[in-house]
Amino acid sequence: MTRIFSGVKPTGHLTLGNYIGAVRKWVEEDQHRADALFGIVDLHALTVEHDPARVRRLSRQAATLLLAAGLDPERCVLFVQSHVDEHARLSYLLECTATDGEMRRMIQYKEKAARERGGSVRLSLLTYPVLMAADILAYETDEVPVGDDQAQHVELTRDLAVRFNQRYGHTFTVPKATHPVVGARVMNLQDPTSKMGKSDDSGPGIVYLLDEPDVVRRKVMRAVTDSGQDVVFDREGRPGLANLLEVLAACTGAADPAELAGDYASYGALKRDVADAVVELLRPLRERHAELVADPAYVDGVLRAGAERARGMARPVVDRAYRAVGLLPAV
Ligand code: TYM
Repeated sequence: MTRIFSGVKPTGHLTLGNYIGAVRKWVEEDQHRADALFGIVDLHALTVEHDPARVRRLSRQAATLLLAAGLDPERCVLFVQSHVDEHARLSYLLECTATDGEMRRMIQYKEKAARERGGSVRLSLLTYPVLMAADILAYETDEVPVGDDQAQHVELTRDLAVRFNQRYGHTFTVPKATHPVVGARVMNLQDPTSKMGKSDDSGPGIVYLLDEPDVVRRKVMRAVTDSGQDVVFDREGRPGLANLLEVLAACTGAADPAELAGDYASYGALKRDVADAVVELLRPLRERHAELVADPAYVDGVLRAGAERARGMARPVVDRAYRAVGLLPAV
C-alpha cells in the first residue's frame, strides 16, 4: 500500500493556505487511499525565535484543528514529531549525507535568513530541510502531499535518499511530492505576490481557519485587487484577481479558475462569492473544533496512540540506517 507522510509546523495559527494547499487533500483523499501519517512537526518550530508556551499551545491547537478538519484516527496516524525520537536520530545521519552548499541553496532558508536582517540565524534554520527529510524517510514514504512551497525540500529529500542508498546500500524509499490541482499556492490577500504564510505578521491578508465569519468576509472584501475593470484570470499581470479566482475554484471544486472568471462582471460580485465560499468551507471545521476543544482527553488519547504507532514504524527503518552507515549496534 502507498505510504504517505506530511506535516504542519506550529509556528502560527493554521491558515486557509494550509487547508486548501495541503490539509483538505489529506482529509478527502490521502487518508482514504493510503497508509497515511500526519505530524505536528514541533521541532521545526524551534528553528526561529519562539515562545515555548506559544509553541505548546499551537501544537495542541493544530492537532485539534486537523481532527476537526476530518482526519480520522481510525484511518491515519496523527502524532507530534517530538514524541518520536527517531526523527532527531535520523536527522543527524542525514546531516552527514547532505552538504553545506545544498542547504544554503534552499529558497526558504534564503528568504527567512534575509528577514533576520543581520540578526543571528539559528543553525537549525539551515539544517531544517534535513530534519524534514528525516520526517519523510523514517516512514518509507512514497508520497508527500504538500503545497508548492515545499517542493524544493521534497526534491532535496529525494536526493539525500538516493545518495544514502548509493553509498550504504538500499535503505530508504525515494519519495515524491504531490500537490492539489488548484490552490497549491494561496497568496496573501494584501500582497498577492507573496504566499499566505501562517508565520507572517500581516493579519489582514491572512485568513485563519478559526477566524469568525465576519472577519473572513472583511478580509476577503478588502483584498488587494489589481487596476482594471474586467474579471480575467492572469496570474502574472493580475495576481490579486487570480488569487481570488483560485481560492473560489478550490472552495467550490471547480477545476479551472480561468473558466470562473467569465461568470463575473465586477470585482465586488466576485469578492462576495469568494467570501461566502470561504465562510461555508470553514463553517463545519470551526463547529467541530469547538466540540473538540471541550474534550482535551480525546485529543490526548489520539496523540498518544499516534506516537506509539509512529514509533513502531520508524524504529526499524532508523535502526537499519544506523547499521548501514557503520555504527556499532548496542548489545
Ligand atoms: P507549513 O507548516 O508551513 O505548511 C503546512 C502545509 O501547508 C502548505 N501551505 C500552503 N499551501 C498553499 N498555499 C499556501 N499559502 C500555503 N502555506 C502553507 C505547505 O506547503 C504544507 O504542505 N516544512 C513544512 C512542514 C514539514 C513537512 C515535513 C511537510 C516538516 N516536515 C515532512 C511534509 C513532510 C512546513 O513548513 O509546512
